[in-house]
Amino acid sequence: MSAKVEVRGVCKTFITKGKKFVALQETDLSIEEGRFVSLIGPSGCGKSTLFNIIAGLTPPTGGQVLVDGADIAGKAGHVGYMLQKDMLFPWRNIVDNIILGLEVSGVPHRDSVARALPLMERYGLKGFERHYPNELSGGMRQRAALLRTLLYDRDTILLDEPFGALDAQTKLSMQKWLLTIWRDFKKTIMFVTHDIDEAIYLSDDIYVFSPRPGRLTTKISVNIPRPREPKVVTTPEFIVLKNQLMEMLHVGAPAETEEEAVE
Ligand SMILES: Nc1ncnc2c1ncn2[C@@H]1O[C@H](COP(=O)(O)OP(=O)(O)O)[C@@H](O)[C@H]1O
Ligand SMILES: [Mg+2]
Repeated sequence: MSAKVEVRGVCKTFITKGKKFVALQETDLSIEEGRFVSLIGPSGCGKSTLFNIIAGLTPPTGGQVLVDGADIAGKAGHVGYMLQKDMLFPWRNIVDNIILGLEVSGVPHRDSVARALPLMERYGLKGFERHYPNELSGGMRQRAALLRTLLYDRDTILLDEPFGALDAQTKLSMQKWLLTIWRDFKKTIMFVTHDIDEAIYLSDDIYVFSPRPGRLTTKISVNIPRPREPKVVTTPEFIVLKNQLMEMLHVGAPAETEEEAVE
């Protein structure tokens, strides 16, 4: 079986004010269908840049991205993509935000709404259909943004630090929620985070980035059975992985490096 997403030698150099800036060094990865894969690394190591390239929004300086075996160079729309900011439109109510992708694809408003409402009911947004984004909590807004990405109906979904701004408690319930979605919809998920616990709890595989300019250095497989309860974080197997990742990401190194690693 060929990979669902394959990144071959992808790199990115930005030119700003006439100067070259390497945002991402040559990176390879290969993701099988249905996997939940996290990319973890310090801020500024090129994670969002890589996602923009896989989503076809930014052309790579070199290399190739294959989605379902086809080169997606310069073509957006092969994957669902939830950007680092939730990007809900403040002037649209929640259901109208959720159907945005369908609307852009030309599905009539009434049909789009008919598809969105049951999802909203099932996945924790019942009663908020006609509310506006500023009336919702951070967790609710992330649910809405994620349902919008789901409704866009691509096999592969990229999520860029979706829970980064949430408090610990909300984050935990959102992680459980996301695993339910993943199980129900059988998507392939690529997930960016800089939270080690989150990466282990959610993932089948974790790709680790080196600091700026980033490059993928290692792939770690998480062989912890599913379904996983939140208290899995206290088990020995979890802690072994956590130590390994902390070492790779230099968490606990002298202050200067630490700031880079956990910022
Ligand atoms: N459009 C751009 N032009 C110039 N530099 C950029 C651009 N986008 C990102 N960068 C730079 O590339 C590096 C990697 O950015 P990014 O991919 O956003 O990192 P991460 O998501 O890992 O925090 C950063 O130093 C950032 O400032
Ligand atoms: Mg980013």
